[in-house]
Amino acid sequence: MADLFPSMTINGSSKVLGIFGDPVEHTLSPKMQNAIIQDLGLNYVYVPFQVTELNLEKATQAIRSLNIRGVNITIPHKVSIMQFLDDVDETALKIGSVNTIKNENNKLIGRNTDGEGCLQAIEDTGMNLNNKNAIILGAGGAAKAIAFYLAQKINKITIINRSPTKMQTLVNNLRNYYDIQINGILFDQKNELKKALDEADLLINTTSVGMSPNIEKCPIEIEFLHPELFVNDIVYNPLHTQLLQNADQIGCKTLSGVEMLVNQGAIGFEWWTGKKPNKKLMKKIVLQHLLNHK
Ligand code: ATR
Repeated sequence: MADLFPSMTINGSSKVLGIFGDPVEHTLSPKMQNAIIQDLGLNYVYVPFQVTELNLEKATQAIRSLNIRGVNITIPHKVSIMQFLDDVDETALKIGSVNTIKNENNKLIGRNTDGEGCLQAIEDTGMNLNNKNAIILGAGGAAKAIAFYLAQKINKITIINRSPTKMQTLVNNLRNYYDIQINGILFDQKNELKKALDEADLLINTTSVGMSPNIEKCPIEIEFLHPELFVNDIVYNPLHTQLLQNADQIGCKTLSGVEMLVNQGAIGFEWWTGKKPNKKLMKKIVLQHLLNHK
């Protein structure tokens, strides 16, 4: 299928945005961001920068010296970049990782739009998160980012993880900041797991279980799901993970990982440019890419 936006104009006044990562080849951000730049007729360009850990400090300084207006940060720099920034938003500071930087008159400000993007995606479906009871599968970087934003709205969070250490660290971390019910369960504590799921309104999978090529895998047994559960898988490749297929079968409302991907990008774009992007177009770009790379 042809690209939706085959040509773009770059001139001497073009403002540069980008992404730092290593590897960075797989990222969908340049496709999404350049599409909305063109859609809004803005004189910006968004480029990928392969930045190794060794070059991260110099590359961050170069944001200032090259007057790059904003960058996304991806694996493996989300934590280590923080030491090179001038300021970090309050929640990102608690989370301890940053995925978006804005250059405000040479001052580099960090923010984490992953968790914000996930919440926005869920709320865009019409779900009201106030007083809800959520389960997060996984206790890694993504789980942490999402949990710290969720904790600002909901009543109870249960972290379910494979390794006890990571689970307990995240639970303790959340308890330090938020005065809501925060519990931790291990995947093999089946009775506790079932009870927690029975009582939950929302389930978010942040583990990589079910991600391509292991598409037949599901992080949780289908028998543990119930129709009132809203199920969000942040895995977007495949689009309809086994978890989402099982949840559909039970009659749950479901949401794919594409929505978080789009929303984290949309929040960053609006922060950098002051313009609201067309999220439907961003989603179309991602879906087109996933279809072409099956
Ligand atoms: P991310 O930044 O995407 O969150 P991460 O920090 O590496 O990635 O975290 C991955 C999460 O997926 C972890 O919670 C991990 O569980 P462990 O803490 O036990 O390692 C979870 N995960 C990955 N593979 C898994 C598997 N096969 N079964 C269960 N959990 C898994």
